[in-house]
Amino acid sequence: MNGKVCVITGGTDGIGKAAAYGLAMQGARLLVHGRDPDKGARAVAELKARSGNPAIEFLQADFSSLDEVRRLAAAITECTPRLDVLVNNAGAMYVKRALSKDGYELTLAVNHLAPFLLTHLLLDTLKASGPSRIVTTASNAHRGAKIAFDDLQLTRKYSSMGAYGMSKLANILFTRALAKRLQDVTRVTATCLHPGFVRTNFGANNTADISPLFKALFSFISRFARTPEKGAETVIYLASSPQVEGASGGYYHDCKPLRPTPAGEDDDAAERLWHVSEQLVGIAGAQT
Ligand SMILES: NC(=O)c1ccc[n+]([C@@H]2O[C@H](COP(=O)([O-])OP(=O)(O)OC[C@H]3O[C@@H](n4cnc5c(N)ncnc54)[C@H](OP(=O)(O)O)[C@@H]3O)[C@@H](O)[C@H]2O)c1
Repeated sequence: MNGKVCVITGGTDGIGKAAAYGLAMQGARLLVHGRDPDKGARAVAELKARSGNPAIEFLQADFSSLDEVRRLAAAITECTPRLDVLVNNAGAMYVKRALSKDGYELTLAVNHLAPFLLTHLLLDTLKASGPSRIVTTASNAHRGAKIAFDDLQLTRKYSSMGAYGMSKLANILFTRALAKRLQDVTRVTATCLHPGFVRTNFGANNTADISPLFKALFSFISRFARTPEKGAETVIYLASSPQVEGASGGYYHDCKPLRPTPAGEDDDAAERLWHVSEQLVGIAGAQT
């Protein structure tokens, strides 16, 4: 990865930070994104010290605002004329329904609309840098989910797992629709993955809203979760391995292709979601 430039969203913690470390060890130049500037500065200092790679920078943006996503894309474009890998990894789950700055259900906004818009805004740079890769951290939490086209903002019925599962299904459908648009005409690939059940700070933003019983249960089952390093293996594989050069549209787990549910292979739903997402982020009619 020497000479290659990688952006990792949510690279300041958990799976993203472990992936950043793995790519830093391979010599890539990294633009590590996170929401909290102090945590970002600490993460970058730690990554530089541990990897011995000085080419690591921090970029801040809160994905609950599409303006911040636009600002992040502009900052990335200003930092680098080329981009070899975009890892869309930042994600969260919300116990209580909340709205983004743009008035959208927060899980959908942070986990799907933000990477959808960021990818769109960086696509010209990725195309000009081909062969290049877009890797998105989805999840097996998509199993059982479907896209609620009649109530995408979940105004009628909200559950944290329901909203999260739908946003992770959106990641898989986004990857399929994107890969289809990029095939033949560009040297940009799009893949996504399930990292496994990983012991991270995921869910820590909800501590005030979770019952003590659920917290105790979660802390117990977390003992059986894998390390962030193990969780990051497939991210690093899809971002850097020659074995997946040219592979596009797939969903992976433990560095192997994995079939998503039928809902994750529904190309009509993928197209419909693509068009709705374009409207929601204000890029309807834009060329991909
Ligand atoms: N952990 C698991 O078992 C598991 C399983 C399947 C899939 N995943 C997926 O893996 C990805 C990474 O999760 P993780 O477990 O590593 O979680 P994590 O330790 O909580 O890290 C999440 C990262 O995303 C960033 N982030 C969260 N909310 C954000 C927002 N509103 N705006 C910008 N950045 C934000 C965080 O930045 P700050 O710290 O600065 O807020 C952090 O860098 C997520 O997409 C998640 O859905 C996780």
